[in-house]
Amino acid sequence: MTTLRAITGTRDILPEEVSAWHRIEAVARTLFARYGYREIRTPVFETTELFARGIGADTDIVAKEMYTFDDRDGASVTLRPEATAGIVRAVIEHNLMNTDPALKVYALGSMFRRERPQKGRYRQFHQVDVEAFGLSRPSIDVEVIEVALAYLEACGLTRFELVLNSVGDAKCRPAYVETLRTELRRSASKLCADCQRRIETNPLRVLDCKVPGDQAIIDALPRISDHLCGECRDHFAEVRRELNLLGIPYRLSHRLVRGLDYYTRTTFEVVSGELGSQNSVLGGGRYDGLVKDLGGPDLTGIGFALGMERLVMLLPEQVIAGRCDVFLAPLVPAALDKALLLQRALRRAGFAVLMDPEGRSFKSQMKRADKLGARFVLILGEDEMAKGVWTLRDMAGSSQAEVKDDAVTGHLMEKLNG
Ligand code: HAM
Repeated sequence: MTTLRAITGTRDILPEEVSAWHRIEAVARTLFARYGYREIRTPVFETTELFARGIGADTDIVAKEMYTFDDRDGASVTLRPEATAGIVRAVIEHNLMNTDPALKVYALGSMFRRERPQKGRYRQFHQVDVEAFGLSRPSIDVEVIEVALAYLEACGLTRFELVLNSVGDAKCRPAYVETLRTELRRSASKLCADCQRRIETNPLRVLDCKVPGDQAIIDALPRISDHLCGECRDHFAEVRRELNLLGIPYRLSHRLVRGLDYYTRTTFEVVSGELGSQNSVLGGGRYDGLVKDLGGPDLTGIGFALGMERLVMLLPEQVIAGRCDVFLAPLVPAALDKALLLQRALRRAGFAVLMDPEGRSFKSQMKRADKLGARFVLILGEDEMAKGVWTLRDMAGSSQAEVKDDAVTGHLMEKLNG
């Protein structure tokens, strides 16, 4: 019989890793609330058209990475490859900007892209996603970047780099794209096959190319920073001024065009040298035309998404055992009933209680309590049964005392809460 295995590119998050996930999820919720962001949860699958229109037909994501299938009624649906398009759809569908013209939301969840799996790159992965709508001044660009960095720091990360660019807008980018195309046609034969195709379909994507042989040509191409219109230039200058004001360091990269087509003006990524080739921890930017393109009002937007697997990989190693306040050790069969009753009462009182009901020896039960990191052990042997007491052992202090049956809960409350 063949062994059943997880699908290539998906992975199990096992109990020993899950505490790191709990931590980064909890930090997200507390930190984002401090900046006025509220959680939104959108479906894991949406109409294929949403992503094709939102992300762009000639992006790698839409062209080759989406999990798309026909539903039983023939409708084409897609597992979300990212969160932004679905959130924008929800904002439009529920008119969220009417109730809150400066809408700030965040989301946590699974995304799906059929990429070639490698370290830090999966086919099902998780993102923390943050979006702000209806704010057009550069200060919100800076706030979103600050939230991203504050989040990394609150999770315990210290070494990372912010990379920044502006990709212009609908006014200035088309002319730049044409300049780029003309320039690229001249060296087309020396570029990789993908880039040759992109010259005609989407020349900006060439700037994303990682093929070593193409790099010298790409580095010598005209730069978007020299082709921004006055408004985009001013916007970008103000973003940089405010970043400097807040003491946030960054590196400018004219090649940071990002892999999705909806971006306008500010784009950014945070990279870490410790991640290997998939070095981007998070990425985002402004997308002022997206809400309108998807059938909504002319509403600006900006946000970022962080890869949770990558963040967990960067966290300092921490083995966090599950919580165990009290371990119950009934040493004789007759002690079982009292132990079961006390276990239930203590759990109802809010304690994390574990017990080994298999009737093992005192020594092996104490070993188990130790392994579980129990704060206290309550022992019930023949002596204790006869006296109507429990022996309470404080594992940290290695001290031991007898406590009367009816005083156990109160006694533990005092010790554990005090
Ligand atoms: P993205 O750059 O495609 O942007 O993805 C953001 C982050 O998700 C990446 O930096 C990476 O950490 C993680 N990620 C992406 N693909 C994978 C994968 N296959 N395996 C593991 N992690 C991955 C977006 O998704 C945009 N929606 C971000 C955004 C939000 N822009 C504006 N608002």
